[in-house]
Formats: sequence, structure tokens, C-alpha cells
Amino acid sequence: MHIFLLLINFLLLKLTQSKGKYDFGPNQLASNVWYKPKGQLINGHYEHSYSNFTLWPKLRQHLIKNNGSISIQASEIGYMTNDMLMAFRRQNLSIIAVSPAFTQCYDGTSLGLLEFYGQSPSKDNLFCQIFQICDPIDRQDPNGNGWFVTKDGFSFTPDLLNFDERMPNLVSYLDYDKLINRTANPIQWYFPNLSWNDRKAFARIDPCPQAGSNRTANLMSDYVKYILIMKQKFNSTKIPQIQINWNVIEGWEWRDESCLDLLHAKYPNASDFDHAYRYVTEPCHHDSQYLKELVKLLCSINTCPQVVYMDMDLTYITSYSLEVLRLNKQILNKLNISFGINLVDQCVEFDNCVVEILSSQVVLNLDAHSKYPNLTRNQMQELSLMNVLNFLINQTVVDKDTHIAITSWTTWPVEINEAIIESTAGGMAHTANEIFEQILIPNSFAN
Ligand SMILES: *[C@@H]1O[C@H](CO)[C@@H](O)[C@H](O)[C@H]1NC(C)=O
Ligand SMILES: *[C@@H]1O[C@H](CO)[C@@H](O)[C@H](O)[C@H]1NC(C)=O
Ligand SMILES: *[C@@H]1O[C@H](CO)[C@@H](O)[C@H](O)[C@H]1NC(C)=O
Ligand SMILES: *[C@@H]1O[C@H](CO)[C@@H](O)[C@H](O)[C@H]1NC(C)=O
Ligand SMILES: *[C@@H]1O[C@H](CO)[C@@H](O)[C@H](O)[C@H]1NC(C)=O
Ligand SMILES: *[C@@H]1O[C@H](CO)[C@@H](O)[C@H](O)[C@H]1NC(C)=O
Ligand SMILES: *[C@@H]1O[C@H](CO)[C@@H](O)[C@H](O)[C@H]1NC(C)=O
Ligand SMILES: *[C@@H]1O[C@H](CO)[C@@H](O)[C@H](O)[C@H]1NC(C)=O
Ligand SMILES: *[C@@H]1O[C@H](CO)[C@@H](O)[C@H](O)[C@H]1NC(C)=O
Ligand SMILES: *[C@@H]1O[C@H](CO)[C@@H](O)[C@H](O)[C@H]1NC(C)=O
Ligand SMILES: *[C@@H]1O[C@H](CO)[C@@H](O)[C@H](O)[C@H]1NC(C)=O
Repeated sequence: MHIFLLLINFLLLKLTQSKGKYDFGPNQLASNVWYKPKGQLINGHYEHSYSNFTLWPKLRQHLIKNNGSISIQASEIGYMTNDMLMAFRRQNLSIIAVSPAFTQCYDGTSLGLLEFYGQSPSKDNLFCQIFQICDPIDRQDPNGNGWFVTKDGFSFTPDLLNFDERMPNLVSYLDYDKLINRTANPIQWYFPNLSWNDRKAFARIDPCPQAGSNRTANLMSDYVKYILIMKQKFNSTKIPQIQINWNVIEGWEWRDESCLDLLHAKYPNASDFDHAYRYVTEPCHHDSQYLKELVKLLCSINTCPQVVYMDMDLTYITSYSLEVLRLNKQILNKLNISFGINLVDQCVEFDNCVVEILSSQVVLNLDAHSKYPNLTRNQMQELSLMNVLNFLINQTVVDKDTHIAITSWTTWPVEINEAIIESTAGGMAHTANEIFEQILIPNSFAN
């Protein structure tokens, strides 16, 4: 009897224990010298900002209490000393290194040798060619070393490695302007008299022919090849866990040629086709199947991702994105893999913008000053993230088990060095604290 009750208690405990984990990824992106969306580097480095823990004590507590982590661009490691990195470990924060090369059209082995060992194929220096880091003097040179060597020459092993998207960028697709003449009224095919196959051949663009014809399978096997190099690299220390980012965008449907074949068979008339295409009225959702295949493949080599983060476009057709999010969440749940969202601001580089929800559609309010005259642009981002997170909770996409990465890849918030202090409204640390205190803790998602 007692044992029986204990067992029930144990099960209840198991059931109610949340698996949610929270990651903080500030936009101190100055190490990404190749990325200047407003013509200048984004903010500065971790040195003098987030490596000074006295500037963000409250957020640190929130993260520590919730198995939190901090994500750092892999390119930033060469700007940091070993001591600085170890200080994060001593704070019980795991470190996620965000590696930048996975979007590139090179095979998984080349990318692994590049990022982990600093070896470029043939005599090139891809760090210089792709990432614009040529003979640097202010950082560890990744050429010949890879990203994982600190400024003072120590090899660094991250707890986790974050993989950027690969698949939708590197599959071939049909240039829509070459398929359809949108200036004609009614809309016409660009070549009305050609067959569908000839029209497709005319419009097809392949950003990565080297990846072969069995494209999605080959791109998936790149993950495996890359992971083999990673395991070899960190064999003597501790092999990092991996997490992957996954696109939730209509572009998956638009880049799915077999799905467009079906659409064309059903809607041979150009204007009907255009309507079905534009409004994604008949999605195939092959992307969710690819996600399942990829996760199974990774698990088959004992490298299940710790979490798959959704990179969502919510503003084009919100209902489509919600459907995909639910589908992906269900798939990951069945595979016992955590579902996560990258909570980022879709206002990207707009100067006067807040993300809002209008009758279940996520929209950009591009005249935010009128409605919120007192908000700085940094505070607008804070409001946007809160709006989106509340919406996703309301839609039951986000729950107590969802991992959330509070992060930014854009110019905003603008904050450099000690300006990152968590008491400043609109700062990244302040925003994360608001998310914990106004949303996650009151919903009992976080402790
Ligand atoms: C957080 O980590 C601790 C220590 O590793 C572990 O005991 C606990 O179960 C974890 N909590 C969650 C919510 O994952
Ligand atoms: C950290 O920030 C505090 C508060 O601004 C400042 O007093 C201190 O000098 C900084 N420490 C370092 C090592 O920069
Ligand atoms: C980190 O965790 C260890 C073990 O649980 C604990 O003793 C230590 O106080 C923690 N450090 C901080 C800064 O919270
Ligand atoms: C597209 O349609 C416009 C208006 O009918 C026409 O003037 C133009 O020549 C067409 N363009 C092509 C490439 O067919
Ligand atoms: C397309 O084909 C039709 C019938 O075969 C012909 O009348 C028309 O002139 C052709 N149009 C073009 C633009 O070649
Ligand atoms: C394409 O990839 C799949 C899955 O890996 C494999 O079963 C199939 O044989 C491949 N086809 C070709 C033509 O290589
Ligand atoms: C790690 O190294 C050991 C000993 O050299 C080797 O047996 C093992 O296969 C290696 N593991 C991986 C994942 O490379
Ligand atoms: C396609 O459908 C539109 C709207 O029904 C119609 O106006 C147009 O003539 C059709 N075009 C062709 C080529 O049948
Ligand atoms: C699911 O994953 C958790 C944590 O990773 C593990 O403890 C549990 O045994 C797994 N359950 C199944 C059914 O695989
Ligand atoms: C904006 O700030 C002014 C001056 O501090 C204040 O009077 C006003 O009520 C504020 N407006 C809003 C919408 O909060
Ligand atoms: C979601 O928002 C709607 C409209 O504001 C509200 O009626 C509903 O109760 C909310 N649902 C949840 C689960 O919070």
C-alpha cells in the first residue's frame, strides 16, 4: 500500500516536473565581422559586458535556477580568455557555442575540418573568404586553429554546439518571377506556351549543385560527417551535446518542387496557381517529415539533439506557422526530444516597430512611435518579445516543457560594455528578466 502511494507520488512528480530550459543569447556580435546589417558591427564583445557578472546578477539567478545557459558565437571565443570562459562555468551556466558555417555550401567533412581544426579545403582560407577574418591581430586566428581556441591560446570545449539551418537554404528552387508574370492581368505564366517541365527548367536555381541530386538526404548526411569530426576533436575532453535550429517558414513549401508539381496539376491556370502558392492553401509539410528523419538519423549515431529550436516566421501567415509548430512539437515529443523556440524580434532592423497580435495574426506595427511615444527602440524589442511569447503560450505552442532561447541576431538592442546593465529597460538582460518575472514564473514554467 505504502509502496503503491509512493509510486503514485513519484509518477506525479515526474509528470509535473518541467523540462523547460532557458537560454540567453545576447547580441554582442562584434566578432561576426562579416555581419553588418546597418553597415557597422553589432555592439561589442563579452569582455567589459556580459563577462562582468556584477552587471546582471538577477538574470544570472534566474538562469541558474532554471538550468540556464548562455550562447556565445563561436567566433567570439577567439576574443575571450580562458579565464573569462571558465567564469561562466563557475557560475553554473552551460555554454552553447553557436557555429556559423553550417549554412554554407561545403560538405559536412569540410565544414567540420574548418570549424574544429581551422583547415580550409585546398589552399584557400575560408575564414578570410567567407568570414572576412584575414590575418587578424586582435583575436586568435581561426585559420589553422578553428573557432575553439581562446585569445590566450587555450583549447575550449563548449557544453553544447548550436547548428544553424542548412536544408532550406541549399535545396534548389524555382525563381517565381521566371515562372509567373505578376504584372500581367490576369496573372500569366511567364512562358504560357511552354510545358510545366520546361518552365520549371527555365526557372530553376540551384544554390549548391555540389550537394548532389539526392539533396535532402545528402544535406542530412552532412550533419553526420560534421559530428564525426566534432567527436574526434573533443574526444579527450567532453563531447559537446548538440542542438539544432529549424526553419518554420512558408519557404519550405515554395522550395518543395514535388509539392509545386501537385499544385500545378491541380491549378494549371496561372492566377489560380498564384493564389494557392501565395496563400499556401495546400501545404505538403514535407519539412516536418525531414525534421523527423534528421532527428532519427542523429539519434542513430548516439547524438540525439538536446533540443530543436524553431526559427519562426510568424508574420506572413500566422496560422500556417502555428500549424507547423504544432506538428513539429508533436513529432519531437514522440521522439522524446525537447522542443524549443528562438524568441527573436521579427522587427529585425526596422527603426520604429513593435510586433503585435491582431486577431490571431502576428503583425509588425511599423508606426510604433504613435502608439508608444515613450518607448526607445530597445524597449520596443522588449515589448515585441513579450507579445510574441504571450501569444505562443496562449496558443499552447509554448508550455512548461518548451525550451526558450531569448536572443537577438540584429542590431537591437544597442548596448555596449557596461550599458548592458540589467537595470536598463530595453537591454537584453532587462528583457530576459521581464520575461522570467512577468511571464515564465507567473505561468509556473520557470522557478
Ligand atoms: C536541472 O539540473 C539539475 C542538476 O543537473 C537536475 O537535477 C535537474 O533535474 C534539472 N532540472 C530540470 C528542470 O531539468
Ligand atoms: C564591472 O561593472 C562594475 C559596475 O559598473 C564596475 O564597477 C566594475 O569595474 C566592472 N568590472 C570590470 C572587471 O570591468
Ligand atoms: C554552482 O553549483 C554548485 C553545486 O551545486 C554550488 O555549490 C555553487 O554554489 C553554485 N554556484 C553559483 C555561483 O551559484
Ligand atoms: C508580363 O505582362 C505584361 C502585361 O501584360 C507584359 O507587358 C509583359 O510583356 C509580360 N512579360 C513577360 C516576360 O511575358
Ligand atoms: C501560344 O500558343 C497559341 C496556340 O498554340 C498561339 O495562338 C499563341 O500565339 C502562342 N503564344 C505565344 C506568346 O507564343
Ligand atoms: C537517396 O537517399 C536515400 C536516403 O538516404 C537513399 O535511400 C537512396 O538510395 C538515395 N538515392 C540515390 C539515388 O542515391
Ligand atoms: C576516442 O578515442 C578513443 C581512443 O583513442 C577511440 O577508441 C574512440 O573510438 C574515439 N572516439 C571517437 C568518438 O572518436
Ligand atoms: C485563369 O482564371 C482567371 C480567373 O478565373 C481567368 O480570368 C483567366 O482567363 C484564366 N486564364 C486562363 C489562361 O485560362
Ligand atoms: C526521454 O528522455 C529523458 C531525458 O533525456 C530520459 O530520461 C527518458 O528515459 C527518455 N524516455 C524515453 C521513453 O526514451
Ligand atoms: C509619456 O511620457 C510623458 C512624460 O513623461 C507622460 O506624460 C505620458 O503620459 C507618457 N505617455 C505614455 C503613453 O505613457
Ligand atoms: C487566449 O487569448 C484569448 C483572447 O484574448 C482568450 O480568450 C483565451 O482565454 C486565451 N487562452 C489562453 C489559453 O490563455
